[in-house]
Amino acid sequence: MTQNTQPHQQANTLWSSRMAFILAAAGSAVGLGNIWKFPYITGENGGGAFVLIYLACIFLIGVPVLIAETMIGRRGGQSPVATMRTLTQTEGTAAGWRAIGWNGVIASFLVLSFYAVIGGWALVYIGKAAAGLFTGADAETIGSQFGTLLANPWELLMWHSIFMAIVVFIVGRGIRSGLEKAVNMLMPLLFLLLVVMVLYAMNSGSFGRAVSFMFSPDFSNLTTAGVLTALGHAAFTLSIGIGVLMAYGSYLPRHVNIARTAMTIAVLDTSVALLAGLAIFPLVFANGLEPGAGPGLIFVTLPLAFGQMSGGAIFGTLFFALLLVAAITSAISMLEPVVEWLEEHKGVGRVKSAIGGGLAIWFIGIGTVLSFNLWEGFHPLGFIAFFEGKTVFDLLDFLVSNLMMPLGGLAIALFAGWAMKREGLAEDIGLQGGAYKAFMVVLRYLTPAGIAVVFLYNLV
Ligand code: PHE
Repeated sequence: MTQNTQPHQQANTLWSSRMAFILAAAGSAVGLGNIWKFPYITGENGGGAFVLIYLACIFLIGVPVLIAETMIGRRGGQSPVATMRTLTQTEGTAAGWRAIGWNGVIASFLVLSFYAVIGGWALVYIGKAAAGLFTGADAETIGSQFGTLLANPWELLMWHSIFMAIVVFIVGRGIRSGLEKAVNMLMPLLFLLLVVMVLYAMNSGSFGRAVSFMFSPDFSNLTTAGVLTALGHAAFTLSIGIGVLMAYGSYLPRHVNIARTAMTIAVLDTSVALLAGLAIFPLVFANGLEPGAGPGLIFVTLPLAFGQMSGGAIFGTLFFALLLVAAITSAISMLEPVVEWLEEHKGVGRVKSAIGGGLAIWFIGIGTVLSFNLWEGFHPLGFIAFFEGKTVFDLLDFLVSNLMMPLGGLAIALFAGWAMKREGLAEDIGLQGGAYKAFMVVLRYLTPAGIAVVFLYNLV
């Protein structure tokens, strides 16, 4: 057993149960990535074969990092920065590994700045659907509604601010009365909404076509780029590599079995992505729409479907409410590493940390708001050929999703697989005998190799 010097392991700030942690971590994992991104990248990459590769990546690359990151977080028991500082000492490793902690706090800070802006879109679309703005509208009208929203910085700023205020409010209330209460209510709601959507889609007529699109693999549709997209998305959707699970793991009681818990989280996250596909594709096919429509799939294509079906205003409202819930439970997990760090390192109370951290993130988010309108033509690193045409938002997204997350995941796999002492590791992870040995082989070789491939590909 490792020593118990970790602050959270003594204070009354732990998750109240294994279930509470599962809901919070699954809440972090299930987000815009599952409902907005997964369906459109599946559509763009031709369906079945892509889904199969994605599933393999989740379980061979995602789950090992999920386990390692949570285990590191619980051992350190503090903010990612302090956890890594403590562990490099107790494990007797090079001080350079501390970069994992900093990478986590900075990346989660940056990712929330743009995630909150997109979360704001979900808020807007709940209102639009409820007001019946899609009813009977044609493709052009719906497309221009989206365009008009993006063109208006004040409107985007307002929704970005409301979204951030909700997130700050929840995180400011702390682990048990804030995060736990929120996910206890929001996660079941999300599953319920999703099941309602799938049931509706089942009766829409094109369910069979959607099922065969998603589950009968045709490898002639899959490109190498598609394989790499699957790999990158597996990391993003599980929230690994940027300190979020390390922060959540620091509040995890000792008796909880991490391996089993991680598996549950991955299964939940995957089920939501697949269910989202099963809710969306039947509507896409039934309305003769294009599955490979790209990022606009749910903001442009789906409203068109909602506008044409009976009860579409209700289902449209439900759908965007679902998106909002998913986005909020992910966003609170992004604020947690920042708040935990402010509390520990700056000695600021929880409420003040949440407000201060939230304000700073909100401010950086203005750059993303402006990227869609006034700063559309502003390409800060445009003088470097590689970044040509990239707005502030594009740069932030690139920095976090393509650099900081994969590098963080890689470093975590290497730290846990190679640098840490073996003593007590099996016990901490919650695996024994052959299962532990197999896990270590995957963590040490397969996972780093897989991440390295995506990373290099993204770079060149
Ligand atoms: N996993 C979240 C999603 O799918 C995004 C996320 C990334 C959340 C990193 C936390 C940390 O939307």
